[in-house]
Amino acid sequence: MLTWNALVHTLISSEDIQRRVREMALEIHRDHPDGVHLIAVLKGAFVFLSDLARVLPGPCSLDFMAVSSYANNTSSSGQVQLLKDLGTGIEGRDVVIVEDIVDTGLTLAYLQRILRARAPRNLRTACLLSKPSRRKVDVTVEYIGFEIEDKFVVGYGLDYAEQYRNLPYIAVVGD
Ligand code: IMP
Repeated sequence: MLTWNALVHTLISSEDIQRRVREMALEIHRDHPDGVHLIAVLKGAFVFLSDLARVLPGPCSLDFMAVSSYANNTSSSGQVQLLKDLGTGIEGRDVVIVEDIVDTGLTLAYLQRILRARAPRNLRTACLLSKPSRRKVDVTVEYIGFEIEDKFVVGYGLDYAEQYRNLPYIAVVGD
């Protein structure tokens, strides 16, 4: 009998993710020694944010946005819709967008555009994963955890049709 996680193959182990997230937290702290405002993009970034925030060695505040760019499928529609906006303003603040993955770059380009218009002092971006071969628009991502090939991945917050977000590692769905 097939079990739920027998359908996936580990691409990046939990230990490797934890190690890299710790390094990314140090990089972010180095660039923001006085503190940083982290804005996580729901839903996918919720696991990355919680691990990142807990190993960040300095002051940080948090907020959340939700966007939808995919409708239960594995290819980008190119349509980005704002589902939930921030709870507080970001004018004059040092902001880091926390995102699970940059694929075509359309979601991040949209987020960076609307957040930059609110005049933060600095706006940088942290992504756990990047698929450079899929990029359709040029976006700047200052902190990248891992570059991966053009494969649809799940786990560590990332889903396929709302499943697999709770896997503690990054996996490829396959048979
Ligand atoms: P982009 O706008 O094409 O860069 O896509 C960004 C969003 O698409 C991410 O925040 C994810 O929610 C989703 N996404 C892109 N690639 C994957 C993947 O391999 N697995 C799960 N979600 C993905």
